[in-house]
Amino acid sequence: MHADHSGRKEAREEGWTARKLLAKSRAETAYAAGEPILEVRDLAKHFPLTQGILLRRQVGAVKAVDGVSFDLHRGETLGIVGESGCGKSTVAKMITHLERPTAGTIRYKGEDITHLSGRALKAVRRNIQMVFQDPYTSLNPRMTVGDIIGEPFDIHPEVAPKGDRRAKVRELLDVVGLNPEYINRYPHQFSGGQRQRIGIARGLALRPEIIVADEPVSALDVSVQAQVVNLMEKLQNEFDLSYIFIAHDLSVVRHISDRVGVMYLGKMVELGTDEQIYEHPTHPYTQALLSAVPVPDPEAREGRERIVLEGDVPSPANPPSGCHFRTRCWKAQERCTVEEPLLAVPETLEQTPPDDPAHHPSACHFAAEKEEVLPSQESRDSQESEESQGAQESQESRDSQEGNA
Ligand SMILES: Nc1ncnc2c1ncn2[C@@H]1O[C@H](COP(=O)(O)OP(=O)(O)OP(=O)(O)O)[C@@H](O)[C@H]1O
Ligand code: SF4
Ligand SMILES: [Mg+2]
Repeated sequence: MHADHSGRKEAREEGWTARKLLAKSRAETAYAAGEPILEVRDLAKHFPLTQGILLRRQVGAVKAVDGVSFDLHRGETLGIVGESGCGKSTVAKMITHLERPTAGTIRYKGEDITHLSGRALKAVRRNIQMVFQDPYTSLNPRMTVGDIIGEPFDIHPEVAPKGDRRAKVRELLDVVGLNPEYINRYPHQFSGGQRQRIGIARGLALRPEIIVADEPVSALDVSVQAQVVNLMEKLQNEFDLSYIFIAHDLSVVRHISDRVGVMYLGKMVELGTDEQIYEHPTHPYTQALLSAVPVPDPEAREGRERIVLEGDVPSPANPPSGCHFRTRCWKAQERCTVEEPLLAVPETLEQTPPDDPAHHPSACHFAAEKEEVLPSQESRDSQESEESQGAQESQESRDSQEGNA
């Protein structure tokens, strides 16, 4: 009886393992065929708005994210930009399962992970890690750096190093450019840039495939931002990582992103390659954001029209009908009030050849290039060369400082 029971259990377990392997190999086959590593479709998060003290009634919802779709490919960096409150962090939290979506799907390597729970969720979370905005508050001040970086191994003992865990932590410190001897120090003993390096080391500990970095450099001094961005680029190559890199400033994501998505009031309004977004934007909101990016060349500055957006961003609890951007858009017409523009190649640009850089998704009924808001190519080239020179200089200064330490 007992032998029968354990035999059945064994057979069941073998069957389960075989099914799991088959499912895994199916997922990998689909994925190996060039599928995106992450597919986000119609993702939404509506936070309930309640009223009343004893009997709390829902009286509405904050539509923090309201139908966002994009793909992330292996080894790619997708930048997500937009003003404060447009829903960037909420997207990041849904992808890393810190918030449950109200609607939509998230697929990781072809598998729907939107509603996973328990062990299955834990296994996926290991592969999708988050790096937070504020290195001052995201690290526990009472833990040593060694404990902070090693903590993920307590949560996922199945991937913890078999031997000396502290040796692994020292290795991670070295990988992010910090002295491994700092392992017993506390977060307050580090500068802002160094703390963000600690946050990145912690994010890397479990060898994830995707890192969602939510404004990883926004709280840092401009001189330190380039160092952290350069480090993230280096790590991406070394560890074959795919990044979602969030920022509120278009100029910060340009250097690192392969593609950029622009968000406004819970929606993604334009999505394209670096060249398409920065040199051939077709959505009025992207054009306005770019017109505010500083240009060092005075001649290029003179010929440029700065678009100043009137009014405040409307409340996400009561977004405008039709196009969410219409209350601030200088091109708005009646159609914009009644018909929501979808994120696709707009009808105004459908006739352009697919290799024309203006031919990319833009959620606007009247999408068109507006070249005069953009700096000339020469000025962009000179800005980029100044930026890379600055980055190199600050890297050199850091190297020499750390060498002295
Ligand atoms: N837990 C919550 N409950 C209610 N509303 C929320 C909650 N979290 C976020 N919101 C609201 O959702 C909207 C989007 O917030 P989110 O933090 O995603 O924006 P963000 O683009 O990351 O902004 P920032 O650039 O300031 O970080 C905001 O209006 C915010 O107030
Ligand atoms: S759809 Fe209308 S309101 Fe919206 S961005 Fe385009 S022109 Fe402006
Ligand atoms: Mg945020």
